[in-house]
Amino acid sequence: MIELRHFLDKDRRPDAKKYVPQRKANEKLQVIAVVNFKGGSGKTTTTAHLGQHLALTGHRVLIVDLDPQASLSALHGFQPEIDRNPSLYDALRYDDQRKPIQDVILKTNFPLLDIVPANLDLQEYEYDTPLAMQTSQEGKRFFTRLGKVLADVDDRYDVVVIDCPPQLGYLTLTALTASNSVLITVHPQMLDLMSMSQFLLMLGNITKTIKKVGANVRMDWLRYLITRYEPTDVPQAQMLGFMHSMLAEEILKNPMVKSTAISDAGLTKQTLYEVERANFNRDTYDRAIQCMDAVNFEIQGLIHQAWGRF
Ligand SMILES: Nc1ncnc2c1ncn2[C@@H]1O[C@H](COP(=O)(O)OP(=O)(O)OP(=O)(O)O)[C@@H](O)[C@H]1O
Ligand SMILES: [Mg+2]
Repeated sequence: MIELRHFLDKDRRPDAKKYVPQRKANEKLQVIAVVNFKGGSGKTTTTAHLGQHLALTGHRVLIVDLDPQASLSALHGFQPEIDRNPSLYDALRYDDQRKPIQDVILKTNFPLLDIVPANLDLQEYEYDTPLAMQTSQEGKRFFTRLGKVLADVDDRYDVVVIDCPPQLGYLTLTALTASNSVLITVHPQMLDLMSMSQFLLMLGNITKTIKKVGANVRMDWLRYLITRYEPTDVPQAQMLGFMHSMLAEEILKNPMVKSTAISDAGLTKQTLYEVERANFNRDTYDRAIQCMDAVNFEIQGLIHQAWGRF
């Protein structure tokens, strides 16, 4: 498919259809942070499916697992307790053992999709950063760390998707300040919404503070993705109505429905894009993949829009 796309793209007529969606020199690397400090809101599921979908549609993608629980890594076959894989901590650490980002990027089974896996060391960054802030200029400007690291591989990727941990610590802040877009995953239930509102309040206060010391927190876009949605559940539909009345423009038009196809695929550490359709109830699988594709194409549209394509 990749070769075919490149072959078809050779047609240089100005009105010719483009088959290779990779970014041009004037289009900047898109870095998307997937956040929310509510555990289980669907961050990892969203990152994995979005990353794979972007790669399957011809983009060069890097997914970054920033959660010490390493679920995104496990979904891609990297188990830190068995594989002793590296993590982004190796590229972010403040001491002389820091490594170049190229050394912590691994290939996945998907062509065009690379991953920076996670391990428990990432938690060290939460302890190191406040100490470094007291002792060094580097620490005080911790929010520039990931942006600088990603600049080293800027020419290798079109999109970076970062799966953040379920907390608003230094890891999440570092990811947010390196990002130019944010995806907030939210399950439409009262407690989840209240937790998200706390998250946004805290985030607002922290970004104000770090902006004052020079952090760049300008976003191309910010969107809420409704996850594990059950349309027949009345309280959920009410919650969604409430969210629409408050945040209309910022909610992705396509919600991700709850589907046993996703949880069943997760049992074998796979995504919808990996499992065999024949192993599922066809209707269940088709509904889930249609819904997932709609979500991912909508996000792809935002990425292309940020590149000024339409
Ligand atoms: N649309 C869906 N339908 C059914 N199950 C889902 C769906 N999305 C996610 N899940 C399941 O919900 C659980 C939590 O999802 P996920 O791990 O993506 O959340 P998370 O926000 O990354 O969690 P954490 O905060 O712990 O990192 C997983 O078991 C996943 O398989
Ligand atoms: Mg997760």
